[in-house]
Amino acid sequence: MQKLIIANWKCNPTTLKVVQKMALELRKRIKKNPKIEIAVCPPFVYLSEVAKMFKGSSLRLGAQNCFWEERGAFTGEVSPLMLKNLGVKYVILGHSERIMMVGETNEMINKKVQTALRDGLFPVVCIGEDATERTEGKTFQILEQEFEQSLIMSKKIDWERVVLVYEPLWAISTSSHSLGDCTADDALTAALFLRKLVLNKAGQKAARNIKILYGGNVNAQNAEDYLLEDGIDGVLVGAASLDIKEFLAIC
Ligand code: PGA
Repeated sequence: MQKLIIANWKCNPTTLKVVQKMALELRKRIKKNPKIEIAVCPPFVYLSEVAKMFKGSSLRLGAQNCFWEERGAFTGEVSPLMLKNLGVKYVILGHSERIMMVGETNEMINKKVQTALRDGLFPVVCIGEDATERTEGKTFQILEQEFEQSLIMSKKIDWERVVLVYEPLWAISTSSHSLGDCTADDALTAALFLRKLVLNKAGQKAARNIKILYGGNVNAQNAEDYLLEDGIDGVLVGAASLDIKEFLAIC
């Protein structure tokens, strides 16, 4: 299966000039390759500029969030339809930072997934346990619960367009926990569990075709470990994607 590498720039960088430099470098250096698809998720304000710069290339564009309505009186929100009309393909939903810092709930994520699917985007749904849940042996329980609440309650799911990310909170680069890195084996175990959940809910075709990625402190040193696993279809890269040299090395 084609691997998917997604760069999540989070709330970086702070000037358009730097964005242009980063996007230009990626555009110059990344060549079309049937084995991998590369998507970049800059902050909303830079999306149209990066869309222009990526035009005609194999690079895809993603957003880091969206709202659950298409239009209306929702101050400060950005709708999936707006993103779609800008040329965005992917939208990251349920990222742990939004759950922890903005108080996003599984119910909200669920509504966002539904609208994103309806408007033709590919939701990249993040699921993962925190350090306490990990230490208490609750990983599978949490994965199943988040999977059910953020996805399955949706009325209609086009599984061809859903991307799942196993994102263990304790392993992301900004985490202060001491549980260490999530090894490729740990990531594979979780990815296989998520695939089994898809199999049980949506059948073989969906389980075979769905992309399940790993996200959490992926860098140029360890990316290959995750990407070489058959059961892991790609990676979501945060901090390391801001260093274009390092991100190119990962790709
Ligand atoms: P990181 O971010 O690569 O900086 O750990 C990953 C994520 O936020 O999912």
